[in-house]
Amino acid sequence: MNEERVIITYRYYQNPSEIPTEEQELLSHAKRALLGSYAPYSQFNVGCALRLEDGTIVQGSNQENMAYPSGLCAERVAIFWAGSNHPGKKIVAIAITAASKVVSTDHPITPCGSCRQSMLEYELNQCSPIKIIMQGSSGRIMEVESVSSLLPFYFNEVDLKHQKL
Ligand code: THU
Repeated sequence: MNEERVIITYRYYQNPSEIPTEEQELLSHAKRALLGSYAPYSQFNVGCALRLEDGTIVQGSNQENMAYPSGLCAERVAIFWAGSNHPGKKIVAIAITAASKVVSTDHPITPCGSCRQSMLEYELNQCSPIKIIMQGSSGRIMEVESVSSLLPFYFNEVDLKHQKL
């Protein structure tokens, strides 16, 4: 039997003014994206903004549906929009935030597993890391340098490409 360890690095900023201006701006865009959130069922609004390598900002927000599984998270709305409208452009960073009238959002909001896997594929395809910046409606800011930090044992599509029956 062997045992191994995975070490992930993440950082916190207690004071939002400590983070670089570009990241503050991206978080502001994510907060603005909350205005487009459609979440009548969960009343949990999520906003997301990503910056592309040429400086373009793409915003997304969660879009729910009365047939619950048909809805989509803010992160996937944003990355799929970027992939569709700016194919081939690298994503440099993604900021995620949330707001709710029914639950507390005073802590960083981390993406769900499906969004992690989806963002990870963009990171693998572009061969460069995507920084993730997370903050609730207030409070400290959490950052990871790469999507893979949030999903160490991700499903790797290379296995599918090389599959021969
Ligand atoms: N949600 C997101 O937009 N992103 C996540 O990473 C997790 C959850 C949304 C989906 C749903 O509209 C609401 O938050 C409650 O789960």
